Amino acid sequence: MPTDTLLGAMDNCGLTGESWGAWRVVAQVLDGQGAALTPEEVALFTRCTGRDHPPTAPPSEAYLICGRRSGKTRFAGACAVRAASKRYVLAPGEQALVALAASDREQARVALEYATAPFRDAGELRGLVERRSTWEALRALVSRETRWGLDLQTRTSIQVHTAHFGRVRGRTFALALADEVAFWQDESGANPASEVLGAIRPGLSTLRGQLLCITTPYSKSGYVWDTFARYWGQTDARVFVWRAASKTMNPLLDEAMIAEALERDPVGARSEWLGEFRDDVAAFISREAIARAVIAGRREDLAPRLDEGGRLPRLRRPGLGRGAGRRDARDRAR
Ligand SMILES: Nc1ncnc2c1ncn2[C@@H]1O[C@H](COP(=O)(O)OP(=O)(O)OP(=O)(O)O)[C@@H](O)[C@H]1O
Ligand SMILES: [Mg+2]
Repeated sequence: MPTDTLLGAMDNCGLTGESWGAWRVVAQVLDGQGAALTPEEVALFTRCTGRDHPPTAPPSEAYLICGRRSGKTRFAGACAVRAASKRYVLAPGEQALVALAASDREQARVALEYATAPFRDAGELRGLVERRSTWEALRALVSRETRWGLDLQTRTSIQVHTAHFGRVRGRTFALALADEVAFWQDESGANPASEVLGAIRPGLSTLRGQLLCITTPYSKSGYVWDTFARYWGQTDARVFVWRAASKTMNPLLDEAMIAEALERDPVGARSEWLGEFRDDVAAFISREAIARAVIAGRREDLAPRLDEGGRLPRLRRPGLGRGAGRRDARDRAR
């Protein structure tokens, strides 16, 4: 199957067979092919999205919130393959970017391997891909392999970035993919997703690229939770949210292993394997709000200003004004 649909890209990445059924429903929805879903697929769609019926146009933004080992990063790879193998109308000198952002370099490396496997001589895919001709065609497109990406002759590149992302402005995005976005952290420990994705959005507009956030859920606060709370179950919302347990997306996972994890750490495992947001790590004030009020890198408070005699300034009791101390003393003497 050619890679001009997400289902075709999944085929070329080896995401075939019954165990990928739930992801294949997601793929059709992201492609605006919701009308093609069978009644059973619509039932799954409703369970995972809270929506009455699937959208019939590709959503511009999608959040796929699923448990561990559910196939998130492999699906992200297929999305990247499809976006990279499209032809775009670009201005002279303009480059289309398929960007994969992950929380750190190691995670970015995993996403990169999945996203570029069909373009490289990935031997393990050979037995899985039926249409060799499509695959050969993809390999013929590669003009340069770099440490963190792949350039294609179509002036499209696949590149991975860490959550810090860097030079976002001025770039043209064909697809922006954020892997494990609930776990991103900047140097201050805050999650920079809101700012980073906000800066990317304008870059997606000219090629009508999608913003895809794929993650295991975490705290009931912060960017991913806010998005989930706002858009999950909203049938006509332009932002699409899908939430599912690991086993829904990857039925090959061992039930006994999940049961054991739930017994060992019920709260953690419900988030890791059942795809539920955690109550216990939600803070009264979010890390993001604290980070905005803190000067990064400052370890101590500024020294107080001394008066002309080199003395510390006299502290006044707040709200009492001049003479308050004397009045207090008088009152106590009565
Ligand atoms: N639906 C599925 N059918 C068959 N194999 C699957 C499925 N989902 C995941 N796998 C396999 O599970 C492994 C993990 O896949 P992947 O890295 O995409 O999952 P993930 O959700 O990103 O995991 P993590 O939460 O650890 O980041 C891979 O070997 C992948 O092939
Ligand atoms: Mg992953």
